[in-house]
Amino acid sequence: MTDLNELKRQAGIYAADQVHSGMVVGLGHGSTAIHAVRRIAERIQSGDLRDILGIPCSAQVEADARALGIPLTTLEQHSVIDLTIDGADEVDPNLELIKGGGGALTREKIVAQASQQEIIIVDHSKLVPALGTGWAIPIEVIPFGYGSQQAFLEDLGASVKVRQKADGSTFITDQGNIILDARFGPLPDPAALATLLKARTGIVEHGLFIGLATQVIVAETVGIRMMKRS
Ligand code: A5P
Repeated sequence: MTDLNELKRQAGIYAADQVHSGMVVGLGHGSTAIHAVRRIAERIQSGDLRDILGIPCSAQVEADARALGIPLTTLEQHSVIDLTIDGADEVDPNLELIKGGGGALTREKIVAQASQQEIIIVDHSKLVPALGTGWAIPIEVIPFGYGSQQAFLEDLGASVKVRQKADGSTFITDQGNIILDARFGPLPDPAALATLLKARTGIVEHGLFIGLATQVIVAETVGIRMMKRS
């Protein structure tokens, strides 16, 4: 039986093989996207890819990409990204996503919005009939007054936890904010919730990625399946 990590690796390789020389590439965060980052680095090293510039979605990926020898740029130098490869926590049949399990949702969304193609790579366990089925929605909030955001989310029907690290300390994002994981259960209308969350002062960003993925590559035990936004 193929284990999930091997499926993630296959999806990463498949996506990284869609990168062409000369591209500005968004480098996603997480245990799936790192396989694509490694593959891009291998292709650069072998001479198969030239003139690639990466834009990392997190401080962690920036460090990984530097260590792997991928040349980097910024959105100030290149405001349009040709192609981004990133992971997701849940994918619904309309290619809408929950992201932010790794805490990098804000940079990931900035990068996704700047991308002409947003390729999401997942193993089959991430496919759900409705967003919210298994995951809470990560919501990045500024630390000041976060209790007010927690109460707002609870009033909307969520059960909310402040994200912690394994050692019990509070998780802090690359922007110096905290994350509230808000569990709503299966969402009948994720876009409507996204609009409500976006309108709330103190919420920096939320993990609902609506209308951003152009393609989802799903690694199944029987092979790779591609879902495209029509
Ligand atoms: C990072 O903040 C996330 O959006 C990841 O892309 C997502 O959590 C998927 O991560 P894995 O590939 O590690 O499951």
